[in-house]
Amino acid sequence: MINTSVKTLLSSTDYDSKVEVKGWVRSKRGSKEVAFIAINDGSTIHNMQAVVTIASFPEEVLKTINTGACIGVKGKLVKSQGAGQMVEIVAEEIEVYGAFDEAYPLQKKGHTLEFLREIAHLRPRTNTFGAVFRVRHAMTYAIHKYFNDRGFYNIHTPIITGSDAEGAGQMFRVTTLDMKNPPMNPEGGIDYKEDFFGKETNLTVSGQLEGELAAMALSKIYTFGPTFRAENSNTPRHAAEFWMIEPEMAFHDINDNMDVAEDMLKYLVRYALEHCKDDLEFLNSMYDKELLKKLDIVVNNTFKRMSYTDAIEVLKSSGKKFEFLPDWGVDLQKEHENFLVEHFGKPVILTGYPKDIKAFYMKLNDDGKTVRAMDVLFPYVGEIIGGSQREEDHDKLLKRMREMHIPEKEMWWYLDTRKFGTAPHSGFGLGLERLILFVTGMSNIRDVIAFPRTPKNAEF
Ligand code: 4AD
Ligand code: MG
Repeated sequence: MINTSVKTLLSSTDYDSKVEVKGWVRSKRGSKEVAFIAINDGSTIHNMQAVVTIASFPEEVLKTINTGACIGVKGKLVKSQGAGQMVEIVAEEIEVYGAFDEAYPLQKKGHTLEFLREIAHLRPRTNTFGAVFRVRHAMTYAIHKYFNDRGFYNIHTPIITGSDAEGAGQMFRVTTLDMKNPPMNPEGGIDYKEDFFGKETNLTVSGQLEGELAAMALSKIYTFGPTFRAENSNTPRHAAEFWMIEPEMAFHDINDNMDVAEDMLKYLVRYALEHCKDDLEFLNSMYDKELLKKLDIVVNNTFKRMSYTDAIEVLKSSGKKFEFLPDWGVDLQKEHENFLVEHFGKPVILTGYPKDIKAFYMKLNDDGKTVRAMDVLFPYVGEIIGGSQREEDHDKLLKRMREMHIPEKEMWWYLDTRKFGTAPHSGFGLGLERLILFVTGMSNIRDVIAFPRTPKNAEF
């Protein structure tokens, strides 16, 4: 007999049928005569209860069935006598796969999220992390579905790259050179010509540049891959390794870009509300009593769109004492983003940022001072999406690259697309972990990715 998932069995009304469930014991309680064993297999937040008549099983077997053990139970599916579940299994056979007699690191309740990070190899077995990972899966699936249903093609862009897409210089080096004794060039530097790829390479910070190449042929593409940033920012919203979704669309200007971003975010939140109800209700009760309300606000409101310049005015005239004074030309701080989102009571999309605080590839506005950038700001997480219309004019792009010291020789292929059949185009990057933070109501990025990579932390 093939076992059935707890999720499937819990909604079954096939009473008296013989079923088998396999999973990990969440709890065991009962009396001298009968034991109630809660089994979870990760298919749902809910457990299947096995009812075990103690006299029918050897004592040495029952003794090993403790919280954390892995077991399989065959028996009859019956309407539950107790409250809390519709059906339960009357156990006829029990197989113990994984028993142990050490203390189980995961006790029933009361572990802090900080402690659970130290046992990230076991934390998927908690209700919280089961819920978070199921939501993360649902969002991943919904992202592919959203784009697939709208004629986008998924492009796999390289993870090892020779270019710094964001020009921020925060990359992880990839090399096979012997770092204790590297080959040197006549100028006294390390000779990367001797390295594996014959040049300096790093882990990518973004798939955008290659995504743009593909959009100049397939019109609408998206990437969905890991990205790496060696920024030493130890915040609850930054990871050194995170997943980014980057659509790139030919013939889309900055307004079309904002439309897609808003539509996609609403679609994803709605998808979570429809498909992850049990998990979201659990997270709502445990971590953020306002969670479901916040998700509804995103789905049911038109995002506020305004220019960076106007946003600075709103901040300045707010009368609020900010730690950092808002000032035109300076990047917004977290406190400013939070204020704007709270002030308007819904997500905010800012456009027209000063060119000096944004990447080289963004299209310059006619004022010569601002670029067609857009940031989507969400409650708590702040910037969830960053994007722009791209500079499609070869000479203007080259000028910007020179001003910003982007190595034009290495980027010849990027410039080439502006020579041969250039087209207006736009795109953006959605940080998957920031989306999961928002949708789950968790507050630290370390708790929405299974095995986080942050400064001084690469265990597991
Ligand atoms: O704003 P960013 O840096 O934009 C880009 O990388 C563009 N190439 C995107 C594009 O236009 N195709 O990053 C995009 C998003 C951010 O809005 C944020 O959600 C997320 O990526 N992000 C991070 N998430 C977790 N940890 C970090 N260190 C992140 N840095 C950016
Ligand atoms: Mg950004």
